[in-house]
Amino acid sequence: MRLPAANPSCCCRGSAEIEVTESSSVLAFCLPSPVASLPRAMLRRFPPMGVYETLFRFAAATHHYMGDPGTHPWAQGFPLTTQIPGGPTLPDSIAISAGDRMYPKADGQPPLREAIANYYNTFYGSKITPDNVAVFAGGRPAIFAILAFLEKGVRVAIEETEYTPYYDLLEVLGREHTLIASHTGNRFRPTLADHPQGGRVLLIKSNPCNPTGVTLHGDELGKLVAHYSQAGRGALIDEAYEFFHSPRPVSAMEFIKDIDSTDLFVVGAATKGLQCPGMRVGWVIAAKHHIELFRNYSSFGMGGVSRASQLYVTQLLTTERVQQARTAIAKFYGDQRQRYGEGLRKLGFELYTGEGGFYHWARLPGSLTGDAFNERLFAHKAGILPGRLCDMARRGEVGPLGRMVRFSFGPLGAESLQDDLAILAKCV
Ligand SMILES: Cc1ncc(COP(=O)(O)O)c(C=O)c1O
Repeated sequence: MRLPAANPSCCCRGSAEIEVTESSSVLAFCLPSPVASLPRAMLRRFPPMGVYETLFRFAAATHHYMGDPGTHPWAQGFPLTTQIPGGPTLPDSIAISAGDRMYPKADGQPPLREAIANYYNTFYGSKITPDNVAVFAGGRPAIFAILAFLEKGVRVAIEETEYTPYYDLLEVLGREHTLIASHTGNRFRPTLADHPQGGRVLLIKSNPCNPTGVTLHGDELGKLVAHYSQAGRGALIDEAYEFFHSPRPVSAMEFIKDIDSTDLFVVGAATKGLQCPGMRVGWVIAAKHHIELFRNYSSFGMGGVSRASQLYVTQLLTTERVQQARTAIAKFYGDQRQRYGEGLRKLGFELYTGEGGFYHWARLPGSLTGDAFNERLFAHKAGILPGRLCDMARRGEVGPLGRMVRFSFGPLGAESLQDDLAILAKCV
């Protein structure tokens, strides 16, 4: 059935026509919502975040869920969930006892908090304790909690080109923010000089950056940490892609001297490097008094995180295993970045990708926009993330990121390169 995308607040805003099946969940998002027009509707309406917007468009056009067998999930942000070359095996089971069916602790189970603290102390020389760790149901809930409890008067600073849902979070939570220049003009590599200098400010930054892959490390990262360790300044450093930096993983934890005296929040997750997006385990490393606050929040707003998931992830963090995972992920995905980079460059893509993450961040050849490119890719059951969805000012297809695309090689095995490049060649 063909439908006009008439709902002005719909995720498919701007598309002329979409094709959907009656049973498709796409309908729920794309049809004019009867609830929105009811005067008595009690909940605020908002669209899904950008990656999901793209997934729904893809489903509407192809009648497949991106990620299903036979699709090319280049818009997706998940890693391989199978053993990678040189990497550790992924356990198939966990043992559950009666105790594990009891409520979990609000701030995370002690063995997992200890394993996380040991992890950072071993690999980055930090001196944190389990009291500096709060466990969440993934990275996004952790980020949500930090931004939700930010005091009035603290301004958020954020790079112009960033991880899609930061935009939705800031919108929904009504947080004022200042943009830090990050565009083709500075090759998406802002420096500290581009950051706002006065007032109480909290930086939110993905490092490695999703979508650009640009990664602060060494001295540069040390300077950023020192800058945001000062009174009146704070930073949420989102290290979801910590393992995916070449030649080796990076973390701000290497440079934080005494986290208890800062407003620094380092966010990690089992989602990417530990290859377990489905386990929904993430964490925040912060000052002890902030962790107490997250515990209090969990006591009324979250109720802790599934014990089964925490058990599973705890066993992934033994020092030997995690050492193997760090080395293998950095190597395998570093090679993939290079192979896909060469292929894309030959097809005329202008690459801006850094040395981290599992995305290529590129400008399309000619005058093609990300959305127009996707229309062509959908015919091959493929799709990328249009760059406009990483624009923290949401200036749309005509904005500065309209011709940029984020190409994900996260879910791709080493064998799919040639087929992928053949499809891309037909569509540029
Ligand atoms: C930059 C960044 N931060 C955090 C996350 C964590 O996501 P999740 O909530 O799935 O753990 C992701 C996943 O895509 C990400 O790209």
